[in-house]
Amino acid sequence: ISNELILAIETSCDETAVAVIRGGKEIVTNIISSQIETHERYGGVVPEIASRQHVESITLIMEQAIREAGINFRDLSAIAVTQGPGLVGSLLVGIVAAKSLAMALDLPLIGTHHIAGHIYANQLVHELVYPCIALVASGGHTELVVLESEGVFRIIGRTRDDAVGEAYDKVARTLNFPYPGGPHIDKLAQSSEEEIVMPRAWLDANSYDFSFSGLKSAVLAAINSAKMKGETPRQAALARGFQASVIDVLVTKALRAVRAEGAKQLLLCGGVAANGGLRAALTDRCAAEGVPLLIPPLVLCTDNAAMIGAAAHLKYKRGEFTSLDMKAEPGLSL
Ligand code: KG4
Ligand code: ZN
Repeated sequence: ISNELILAIETSCDETAVAVIRGGKEIVTNIISSQIETHERYGGVVPEIASRQHVESITLIMEQAIREAGINFRDLSAIAVTQGPGLVGSLLVGIVAAKSLAMALDLPLIGTHHIAGHIYANQLVHELVYPCIALVASGGHTELVVLESEGVFRIIGRTRDDAVGEAYDKVARTLNFPYPGGPHIDKLAQSSEEEIVMPRAWLDANSYDFSFSGLKSAVLAAINSAKMKGETPRQAALARGFQASVIDVLVTKALRAVRAEGAKQLLLCGGVAANGGLRAALTDRCAAEGVPLLIPPLVLCTDNAAMIGAAAHLKYKRGEFTSLDMKAEPGLSL
């Protein structure tokens, strides 16, 4: 059993996060400093403000992580950081901090893909069996990824427009919920007895791609037409219809992919993995079809640095290090 300590940094969006991971498995500390309160009043993440806040917090959060871990900077074996995708100004802050530490401590630097992080969050709590399939559902991504073997990814489906979390946030905003709106819509949907049936975007018969902008527009149109008629929109019934459409498409495509690829497990990850309706529906369908389903605990679903440490550890084992002139890659592919 390895016990090297990796300090991981994640600043791709609006969370300043630092974690220390032992042996790629044990979370020694996992600090997430959220900027939600700041961005809430703008109804979404403001990139300029996000990067300035990262600058203000990153050093303090790194020091806090080391203190809470009860270790010394000198005890670390490597420094990991999210290289992309994400907001370039936000990524840069984490990358500069990681490079400085790596240089000062003479440690290897490991640039990590944000989505690989979301996927390998599962590794912190489960054993992965290959080939498996990950359904990545977050505010920035909606992807079906085949993991052929450790660290070998093949994307078979992606969204052609909005990410699923983004669609949640936009619908929520129209119903006057604060950012991020996903949890509010989830709660509303689960509280409703009624459902206004919404369209499902299956796309071509064999496609694993997704599209959520038509669904989002259908919900927004229903809300606006009610408002124009001076009626109160049937918020809960709309939320339920929206959520039912999202879940139906995600679950159906994910399970079709599992069968077609002969996957041994289905992994759910990304912020939308927090969705109660989605978790329940996937749990039921996977149980019915005998497919092992892995979902990380909630804190490891939304953006965090522990997942970056987990993904980085795979590269550490293989000695795959990143040069100190590494750049932020806002559009980095898996
Ligand atoms: O993975 P994440 O923290 O950040 C990105 O990498 O995008 O995901 C954040 C997204 C937001 O769009 C948020 O509204 C959504 O996850 N989300 C939810 C729920 N909790 C968070 N969406 C639906 N239902 C939820 N319970
Ligand atoms: Zn994310």
